[in-house]
Amino acid sequence: YALDALNTFGLKSTAQHYCRIETAAELEELVQSALFLQQSVAWLGGGSNIILEPKLNSFVIQLCNKGIELIAENNDTVLVKAQAGEVWHEFVLKTLSLGYNGLENLSLIPGQVGAAPVQNIGAYGVEVKDRIHSVICFDSYSKKWQTFSKVECQFAYRDSFFKHAENGRYVIWAVIFELSKRFIPNIKYGDLEEVSNRMASGQTLTAQVVSDAVCHIRQQKLPDPHITGNVGSFFHNPIVAADVAADLKQRFPNMPQYAQEDGRVKIAAGWLIDQAGLKGHQIGKAGVHLKQALVLVNLGGATHTDVLELSQYIQNTIFEMFGIELHPEPNFW
Ligand code: EPU
Repeated sequence: YALDALNTFGLKSTAQHYCRIETAAELEELVQSALFLQQSVAWLGGGSNIILEPKLNSFVIQLCNKGIELIAENNDTVLVKAQAGEVWHEFVLKTLSLGYNGLENLSLIPGQVGAAPVQNIGAYGVEVKDRIHSVICFDSYSKKWQTFSKVECQFAYRDSFFKHAENGRYVIWAVIFELSKRFIPNIKYGDLEEVSNRMASGQTLTAQVVSDAVCHIRQQKLPDPHITGNVGSFFHNPIVAADVAADLKQRFPNMPQYAQEDGRVKIAAGWLIDQAGLKGHQIGKAGVHLKQALVLVNLGGATHTDVLELSQYIQNTIFEMFGIELHPEPNFW
């Protein structure tokens, strides 16, 4: 089964078997089937954070369950449950239209709701963990439903329990978000300066305005996966010890650095790659995006090898120049 259209990098890949599921009953039935029990399984969402090998010896199951519902509310907050197969950005817009605030900074992130907790998606000063109440999973080993509280999800920067769990064991089926009826703007992130200025000059700010601004910024810098294949940021922003950061700052005074709560310092990987002169660098048909060096793009017909070689070349160059190890962000299947 060809997965070419199911991964946003647009890599050519085939899976041994593929199916889509839409209901919990279908899921429960599927996990009893011979096909499921015979081979390794990979759960697919929007395919926006995966790099695929040309030939997968697995059973790829795409989660297509839909539905958004209000499950509780009080004066200030609401709990909203969204099924894994909902398209993330459409869900964000829906919550804003209902007057539920909190996801506006996470507008226009590609992918589906079910994938959001896995790597704890984040942008413009907000991480999805800040808005998650709990995650409803199906444990395909014990065949039981299990709700993970936010703490049990072990969220960290682009990381969670689900990223390290046994391959294919937990199926994220739905996510419960805690959103706010009051709008509390979070516009400290550098790129949102223009929005802060508008507020300072007395303009009324709404979550929809912030969402529009975020969409605008993303459209300027990040390639649209429908047009140019990509998986967003290709590397994590590395986090280094304070003394390492201080030393780097001396050698490279313009290096953007962000102090973390635990005293360590996050370095902008896009800046490192940009400074290394790698914007536009190309291996085969894989290239470094010209407007955002942290994003690798498919220039048309890129192969899995092109991507791996480019990624390795960037890692080596950055290590030689800055002594920093970059770690890829997408999942490799
Ligand atoms: N920079 C450069 N050159 C570049 C790219 C970045 O100098 O080519 C500098 C920027 O000027 C800025 C700093 O590096 O000073 C950080 O850049 P930016 O604000 O664009 O964000 P980022 O750190 O590169 C992260 C997330 C993005 C998210 C943005 C906005 C990670 C791995 N990436 O990127 O998330 O949209 O912040 O919040 O944390 C994703 O994960 O797929 C993703 C797109």
